[in-house]
Formats: sequence, structure tokens, C-alpha cells
Amino acid sequence: MKLAVFKNEEELDLAAAKSMIEVINENPEATLGLATGQTPIGLYQKLVQAYQKGQVTFKQVTTYNIDEYVGLEKEHPQSFYHFMKTHLFSHIDLNEVQIHIPNGTASNLEEETERYESLLMKAGQLDIQILSIGLNGHIGFNEPGNTLHAETHVVTLTEDTRKVNSKSFPSLAEVPKKAITMGLGPMMKAKKIIFIAKGEEKAAILKQAFKGPIDPLVPGSLLQLHPNIEVYLDEKAVKYMM
Ligand code: PGA
Repeated sequence: MKLAVFKNEEELDLAAAKSMIEVINENPEATLGLATGQTPIGLYQKLVQAYQKGQVTFKQVTTYNIDEYVGLEKEHPQSFYHFMKTHLFSHIDLNEVQIHIPNGTASNLEEETERYESLLMKAGQLDIQILSIGLNGHIGFNEPGNTLHAETHVVTLTEDTRKVNSKSFPSLAEVPKKAITMGLGPMMKAKKIIFIAKGEEKAAILKQAFKGPIDPLVPGSLLQLHPNIEVYLDEKAVKYMM
């Protein structure tokens, strides 16, 4: 694991973006596993800025998002599709047909998980996987539990996750109860993981994930096994890891 600690978010986001841009410039057809949430927004802003300055193009890049809420239309303001459009996709030259996000409104969710998994299988090893961690240790929506899944699946969100995510919804009642998430397989197979966490509230779970035992109750602890993971933390997040 390559750990880099930054004084401020600006420097952290720039460094993570630089690492991604290097890969894309070396391989313009790179495949990217992307994440949503507050954490990667700054990284996406840096990618947009680099694109605007002509430092990178996404024309031949293909993306696979790690999760989507069940029941939200693409256009819903809290869907992850909408999030990606707002923070990244609308501002770069990525081809719409090369964007992949699970369809949370599919009439048959099991079939949708199979469809998404076969897309991932066809993609093979992702060049980069962007990840963060939830306060309960989840990675994507791979929630803590006795069983972890390698493949795309439908997940019932924990009440903890719904509460945390309710910040982006008008009320807790409106937070979907289920989601579709990529399993841990493609993430662990990615050539490189760019892992980002910011702020003191993540410090305790980061210590458990990276310094504790590998434990399905802390899905992020699996990341200790990845052979090429770059961990970008700010000084607050790294507090209990030193
Ligand atoms: P956050 O979410 O980036 O909004 O903290 C991370 C997660 O839940 O995986």
C-alpha cells in the first residue's frame, strides 16, 4: 500500500487526479471504476480542469460506476447517474455509450445484476478503481456482514448507511432501501486502486480497515490485500493510523 498524506484537500485531489491522468495518457482506452459520494467530488473537479486545459482526453475511456440506488430514475437528483453527470460526465468528452452504471429501475433486478456483471467480465481488469469508505466500513455498497460478494448484487442498505446518506435527500424516508452494487471481485482485480478518504469522522474506520484484521464486518479491510493500492488521506483522516 502506498500511503500519501496531505495538508489540504486541494493537494490531495490534485495528486489523485495526477495519478489517474498519467494512466489515461499512457492508455487512452483505459477502463475506470468510478465512485460517488462527497469524497471524490474534488478529484472529479480536478479531472474536469485538466480536461479543460487540454491535459487529458476521455474520448476513448470507458467507465463503470460501482453502484446505484434501486428505484431512482437516472434523472432523479439523488441518483448516482445524475451525480456523475453533474460532477464529471457533463464536463468532459466522455462518450455516452461508454458510460456504465447499474440500472436501479430495471424491472428485473436479478437480470440487471447479471447484465452488469457480464459487462464487467467483458471489460476484464479495470485499469483504475476509485474508492472511498463509508463510516461503517462499506466499499461501494458492499455492506458489513457475514458474507461478502465478489459479483454484482442487490443489497439491502443498512440503517446506518441510509441515515448517513439521508443528508443528500429531503428526508430519511426518501432514501432508497436497496441498491445495486458491484461486488468486491472487480475492485480487487483492478490494476490500481485510488483510495481517498478525508476528515476526522473517517479516522476510526480507516484504522480498522487498514490496521485491523481482515474482517467481513469491515469490508474495507479487504483492501489490505490489494497489491497496488494508493491511499490518499488528509491529516485528519490519518489521525489514528500513525
Ligand atoms: P462519502 O461516502 O464519500 O460521502 O463519505 C463514502 C461511502 O459511503 O462509500
